[in-house]
Formats: sequence, C-alpha cells, structure tokens
Amino acid sequence: MASTAMENSAEPIPFFDQAESFASLWPLIARHTDDVFDRGKFSHGRKVAELERAIAEYTGAAHAVAVNSGTDALVILLRAAGIGPGDEVIVPAFSFFATASSVSMAGATPVFADITPDGDYGLDAASVEAVITERTRAVMPVHLFSQLADLGALSELSTRHGLLLLEDSAEAIGMRWDGTHAGLIGAGGVLSFFPTKTLGALGDAGMVLTQDDAIAEQAAVLRHHGRMGRTIDHIAGISNLSGVSGTNSKMDDVQAAVLLAKLSRLDVDIARRRVLAEAYTERLRGADGVLAVPRVVERAVPTDPVYYVYLVEVERRDELVAHLAARGIGTETYYPRPLHLQPCYADHPQHRPGLFPHAEAACERTLALPLYPDLTEERLATVCSAISDFYAGRR
Ligand SMILES: Cc1ncc(COP(=O)(O)O)c(C=O)c1O
Repeated sequence: MASTAMENSAEPIPFFDQAESFASLWPLIARHTDDVFDRGKFSHGRKVAELERAIAEYTGAAHAVAVNSGTDALVILLRAAGIGPGDEVIVPAFSFFATASSVSMAGATPVFADITPDGDYGLDAASVEAVITERTRAVMPVHLFSQLADLGALSELSTRHGLLLLEDSAEAIGMRWDGTHAGLIGAGGVLSFFPTKTLGALGDAGMVLTQDDAIAEQAAVLRHHGRMGRTIDHIAGISNLSGVSGTNSKMDDVQAAVLLAKLSRLDVDIARRRVLAEAYTERLRGADGVLAVPRVVERAVPTDPVYYVYLVEVERRDELVAHLAARGIGTETYYPRPLHLQPCYADHPQHRPGLFPHAEAACERTLALPLYPDLTEERLATVCSAISDFYAGRR
C-alpha cells in the first residue's frame, strides 16, 4: 500500500494517553504519595482508608471496600452476597470476560442472556426472563461504555422473581439512575480503576460498593484471607483466625494516592469526555460506513450518561481498524467474542453462534475510538477524516 503524506507526517494518536493531565496533576499526586512514604505503610494503609471514604462520599455508598482490581471486586461481591456452588447468575453475553469468569470463580454458574436492540448494550429483561430456573439466585447487568442498563425493568424483574440484583458497574463511575450512583441500585456493585477507566490508577485497583452492612463486612473479610481480625485463639494464644477461605486482594496505598488526586478532577474529566463525545457524534452521525453512533436511551427517570468509551458501529470493522492503525490511530474492539462462545464456556450444548443475535452483532460491528480528556479537537478531527477516507476508498 502506498504511504500517504498524512501517514508519514502525522503524530500518532494513541487509543489512550494521559501524559499531559498526569503532568498537571503531579504536584497533588506527589503530596498524597509523600504521605504514603512518610508513613511507610504501602498496602491497605491509611491512604486506602482515605480513598474508601472519598469514594463513599462521591457515590453516596454506605460502604466502599477497596480491593486489588475490578475483577476481584466482582468475585468478592458475589461471594459476600452469598453466591456459591449450585447457584446460577444471569449475565449478558456481551461484556468483558470478568463479568462471567467472576461468577465461575465464586463457584457458581454464569447463565447468559442477550442484550437489548436499543443501543444501550445492556442486559435485555425479556431475554433474562427466558433463562430463569429454580437455581437462579442473581441477575448481574453490566453498564457498558456510556450508559446504565435498563435498571427499571431489571429491578422489577429481580423483585418479582425474588432474585438478587448485583451490578457490574466496573465502567460506570459517575453514572446515576435517578440520582442513585451505579452499583447502589441493587444489592451491590463494583468499580474498576484500571488505568484506562474514567477514574484510572497507575496499575490495577478496584472497589466493592454497597449499602448493605452484611455484604460490606463479608467483603472486607474476604479481601484479607478471610480474617476475622485479631481474635483470641485458646490453643495458640492471640493470632489471626480465618473463618472462610478468603484471598489477598488489598489495595496498594500508592494507587490510592494517585486515585485521590485524580478524583479531585473527575467531574471536570467527565464533562470533557462528554464534549469530545458530542464532537465525534456531530461528525460521524450518518457518515458513510458508520452504522450507529452512541444513542443515549431515554428512561422514565434521569440517568446521567458518562462517556467512558466512545463506541461506534461500522461496516467492515476489522479492515477499518487496520486502516486506522496504518495511520497511527489506536482503536479498541470491545469485545470481539461473545461470552457464550469463549472457549471456556463454548462446550455448553446450547452455546452456538446465533443464540444471542444482538450480542453477536455488537461483537462484530463495534469499535471504540480514542477518547480521553487529553485528546484535542484537532486529533479528533483527524480520526474522523481517516474514517471517511477509508469509506471513500482513499488509502
Ligand atoms: C465491564 C467490566 N467488568 C469487569 C472489569 C474488570 O475490571 P479490572 O480490569 O479492574 O479487573 C472491567 C474492566 O476491565 C469491565 O470493563
């Protein structure tokens, strides 16, 4: 393929970049990390407790339990809510792998359902209804990319069937359903602080959110080897006793320090993401090859969308990815394989292509474009021109 002038001269546009905003936040980050170094406690120390209080305040959660990743937060939430062997948990077929694997790791069985055709990429209540059995214990919708799943229909369904509603709200910081933060509409939810998230650390970190005292208490026990605290053991004297087999999922204080600094700018970052998302939509709506731009689904209540990811549906997606990559433009395909067809779930007798058409179409057509507060309008325009060049046959 012949190189164009743009290919040779343009600066690459990475899928994610936070160098500039990180540099401007550095003095505040350094104040928080200095605190950590002064105290010398690097894991599950006072900075982590400070972050838990700050996130509880930001979200309105009664309890925010810091852990090592969003994936750990899901496993711990499920176990703390009493989900285990013999239980089934209904999850969408279109999501990040951890939505399903966390259920398996809690010892239960993930049962898949389709997403809606509405463009919210959320779990479809009618599809959930069709897979409920006497073993179903919980429904776990996922809030993907920019908006909440239909929590009105899913809460009603969960209550009617006596099921727990748990939320994979790993991507949903800042999203609210009628004023209630994501993760707190059901019995509990999670946050992921993976670096690319709307609130991202400099490595892995996550949190369990809940209004339920018992779930919070059990989550705190499970993240720390199942320890019940320093208890009198009459055989061995005073020692740490574990009542359940928990794990080591403590958060690092250095990550908590970074997150505290970035939390102070979260609402500004969210507003900037929205401006950029609207600029993309203005340029890409109805453009050749672009099948859909994000549609914020109207609900009966206000639902505060937050653009964690700017996702379009396009024709010839994989060819477009290669074309953009050749021009130095980074993209991401969330999620190219539906969960029911992942190798570790594919041996189920009913799991075949065509079972969940909306989830499968999303896997084939969706593409995430660069979106982060540091992205400039000029770079955004370059991404859009490269897309229109591709569909016009200009290589
Ligand atoms: C929907 C969803 N669930 C779960 C996770 C897992 O979070 P983490 O990567 O922090 O383990 C993520 C993030 O990658 C996610 O996007």
